[in-house]
Amino acid sequence: MPVHICEVGPRDGLQNAHHLMPTEAKKAWIAALAAAGLKEIEVGSFVPPKLIPAMADTGEIVAFARTLPDLKVVALAPNLKGFQRALEAGAHKVTFPVSASRKHSESNVRMTPEQMVEEVRKCAQYPHPGVEIEGAVSTAFGCTLQGEVPEDDVVRIATQLAEFCDFVCLADTVGYANPAQIKRLFRKVFSAIGAKLEAAHLHNTRGLGLANALAAYEEGVRHFDSSMGGLGGCPFAPGASGNVITEDLVFMFESMGIRTGVDLEKLFKAREILVKAIPEEPIYGHTPLAGLPKGFRAAA
Ligand code: COA
Ligand code: ZN
Repeated sequence: MPVHICEVGPRDGLQNAHHLMPTEAKKAWIAALAAAGLKEIEVGSFVPPKLIPAMADTGEIVAFARTLPDLKVVALAPNLKGFQRALEAGAHKVTFPVSASRKHSESNVRMTPEQMVEEVRKCAQYPHPGVEIEGAVSTAFGCTLQGEVPEDDVVRIATQLAEFCDFVCLADTVGYANPAQIKRLFRKVFSAIGAKLEAAHLHNTRGLGLANALAAYEEGVRHFDSSMGGLGGCPFAPGASGNVITEDLVFMFESMGIRTGVDLEKLFKAREILVKAIPEEPIYGHTPLAGLPKGFRAAA
C-alpha cells in the first residue's frame, strides 16, 4: 500500500530558517517539488507578517501553487483571520496547530488549548466549500516548555478536533518521540477517532525521525509530513529543529518497496534549487549526500 507525503519545507522549514527565501525562488522550489511527484505541499502560513516575515508572501505563493497540476495546496492558519486569508488565496486545505501542551499553546498562538479548539470550531463553521480542514495536535509527544504532555490530553484534543475537522494529525513538534511512544499514542488515538486520524508530523531533533515514521507506518499511518533538507522547527518552541527529511523518508519507503510517487532524482534537483536559494542555511539528508545505491530500484 503506497504512502502519501506532504512536503512542509516551504512552511515549517522556511518559518524557522535564518535566511529569507525570495518569493520567486520559493515558486521555483515548489514547482520542482511538485515536478518530483509530491502531490501535497504546505506552502506557507497565514500568520501576522510581523510575527513571521518569511511567511509574508503566502497569499502569492498559494495563488502560484494552485496553477501547478495535480497538487493539493496546503496552508497553516492559527485563527479565523488566517483561515479567511487562506480561503481568499485559494488554499485547498488548511491546517491548524492545536498544542496539547498548555505552555506551548500560549507561546505559539496566545490561546489555551481549549480556546484554540474553539477557534478551530469557529473556522469549521465558517463557510469553506471544497476546502479541507486538518487539526494538528502539536507537542503531542512532549514539549520543551512544559516537559511531559499527558497522553489523555492528546486523546481528548484529537477527539474534539475530530468532531469538526476532516482530518487529525499528531505532531512531534520538538522531536521528543520514540518509536514505542509513537505506537502507543497512535494506537490510542486511532481507537478514539478511527480513520479521522490521518497523518504523522515528525521532527528529527534527536535523530529518531525515520524510526518514528516507520513505527507510525506499522500502526497503519499512511500520510506523513516531511521537509526537504530537514529544514524546520517552531520559532515558539525553544530547541525545536528540523522535520524528518523528505529525501531520506522517500528513500526508506521506496527501498522497502512502498510507493511514494516521488522520483528521487527529481527530488535531488529540487534540493539544488533550495541550496542555491539559501546557501548559508544548513541543509541535511543522508541519501542526497551518499547517492542512491548501485542498482537501486524504486518501488514498482
Ligand atoms: N494574519 C494576519 N494578521 C493577523 C492574523 C492573521 N492570521 N491574526 C491576527 N492578526 C492581526 C490582527 O488583525 C491584529 O492587527 P492590528 O494590530 O493591526 O489590529 C494583530 O494581528 C493582533 O491580533 P490578535 O488577534 O491580538 O493576535 P495575537 O497578537 O494575540 O496573536 C496569533 C495570535 C494566533 C495571530 C499569533 O500568535 C500567531 O500567528 N501564532 C502562530 C505562530 C506560528 O506561525 N507558529 C508556527 C507554526 S505552528
Ligand atoms: Zn513541525
